[in-house]
Amino acid sequence: MADSRYDVVVIGTGPGGYVCAIRAAQLGLKTAVVEKDKTLGGTCLNVGCIPSKAMLHASELFEEAGHAFPKMGIKVGKPSLDLPAMMKFKDEAVDGNVKGVDFLLRKNKVDAVRGVGRIIGPGKIEVNGEGGKTQTVETKHIVIATGSDVARLKGIEIDEKRIVSSTGALVLGKVPEKLLVVGAGVIGLELGSVWRRLGAQVTVVEFLDRIVPGIDLDVAKNFQRLLEKQGIVFKLSSKVTGVDSSGKKLKATVEPAAGGAKETIEADVVLVAIGRVPYTEGLGLEEAGVKKDNRGRVMVDDHFATNVPGIYAIGDVIAGPMLAHKAEDEGVAVAEILAGQAGHVNYDVIPNVIYTYPELASVGKSEEELKQAGVAYNAGKFPFTANGRAKANQQTEGFVKILADAKTDRVLGVHILGADAGNMIAEAAVAMEFGAAAEDIARTCHAHPTLPEAVKEAALAVGKRAIHM
Ligand code: FAD
Ligand code: NAI
Repeated sequence: MADSRYDVVVIGTGPGGYVCAIRAAQLGLKTAVVEKDKTLGGTCLNVGCIPSKAMLHASELFEEAGHAFPKMGIKVGKPSLDLPAMMKFKDEAVDGNVKGVDFLLRKNKVDAVRGVGRIIGPGKIEVNGEGGKTQTVETKHIVIATGSDVARLKGIEIDEKRIVSSTGALVLGKVPEKLLVVGAGVIGLELGSVWRRLGAQVTVVEFLDRIVPGIDLDVAKNFQRLLEKQGIVFKLSSKVTGVDSSGKKLKATVEPAAGGAKETIEADVVLVAIGRVPYTEGLGLEEAGVKKDNRGRVMVDDHFATNVPGIYAIGDVIAGPMLAHKAEDEGVAVAEILAGQAGHVNYDVIPNVIYTYPELASVGKSEEELKQAGVAYNAGKFPFTANGRAKANQQTEGFVKILADAKTDRVLGVHILGADAGNMIAEAAVAMEFGAAAEDIARTCHAHPTLPEAVKEAALAVGKRAIHM
């Protein structure tokens, strides 16, 4: 199979790697992928986006069945949880998606070489497969798409049973009575929400004085308030310095971030969600002379080229937001560059979605970023309490906020906190990609009654002329 010379070999089949391979094959390049795991699809499909979204969907409906159905006149009795069945639902979502990648690679005639890939020289990758079988794959271009791994907390060992990363938190055998989450970032809040809905008492310990760093502060504060109303307890400006796992209950030591009196918090499960780090273990980068930055990320130029000719890198293993769609777009761009086209990623318009209830979606700049850059802007805000569809659905939490350049009215940032925000942000991304002004969104006819009418009203609010407020 892998005996001839390829144009492109991609190491890793996450959303960066498999999308890159498909695009390269579409452009007529002879392409192979190398994957060390049993299934294709990387973090996203196996232990990331897909299983977490399946659990978020199922647990949200579980909560709705218990709390929202009765007031809509739907009597189903008190819902009870069949956790193994919910896990099966999640596993089927993963299975369907990884099989889909397998199908797409075959359809595009991309060879899949199974095993751990190591760069052993220019255009040469040694692949160590199961049972010690080794083969060498030769190629003109290598694309590193090896993704990321869980960041560890010094002195706290993840056993994936009681002290878990996101991977273990997606396969817990029973609902923990008490879940302690370290890190109020995306994983902590998404998976914290899942287990709270299923019955756990959730406490989130965050090092900073705010949750979801990087998100517009006004939005983050409102988001925190809504999560607190659901029962999630936050301990901000705090750090977990140790977890004693000798007893039946875990005992976590929590200290103020700036130092001070310690306290002990008991938990059945501790979820460590303090970020992810680039994964390059065993790739042979040092020997190949590929440069990494001080955070272990493979350094690339605007064309995703490393300092070594013929070696490129994309996705979580390079700088930028660790998001599946960012990795995918880089995969497409590098394939197009290798085929002699002008591949490009617009890093100013990469949407970011947190799939909790309500969802939090944003694209572009926050108010803090605009202030720091000295950009004068107008803000238009519209609450879902004033949106007809949100009122009809009784899902009125949150708002849409649009930030537009004070001189040109060009949309610089859109932030949506509310039900279905993740779907609504696509409109903002398209508008921004086309360089739209708030006025353009305001004058675009939006169907009634829909949640996206709130986006239009926020755009009207930029010019202080919202209708329904
Ligand atoms: P990865 O998906 O990490 O894939 C890398 C692949 O390379 C893996 O399959 C690995 O086995 C393989 N590999 C590594 N080294 C070698 C080697 N030497 N030889 C062969 N193969 C190798 N992002 C979103 O946009 N939306 C979400 O909703 C979302 N949810 C997430 C939920 C969780 C719990 C987690 C952990 C992450 C989530 N992410 C989400 C982030 C997303 O999963 C990553 O940004 C994305 O997977 C990065 O893609 P990638 O292709 O760069 O790498
Ligand atoms: P994160 O970077 O989103 O959040 C980590 C949080 O932990 C931050 O708030 C940080 O201040 C805090 N923290 C760091 N060290 C700490 C310590 N010692 N004690 C207490 N708090 C500490 O990282 P997370 O949630 O682990 O997710 C990793 C990546 O995966 C994200 O960056 C995101 O890109 C991706 N992801 C994306 C999702 C999505 O798009 N919906 C879902 C899940 C993950």
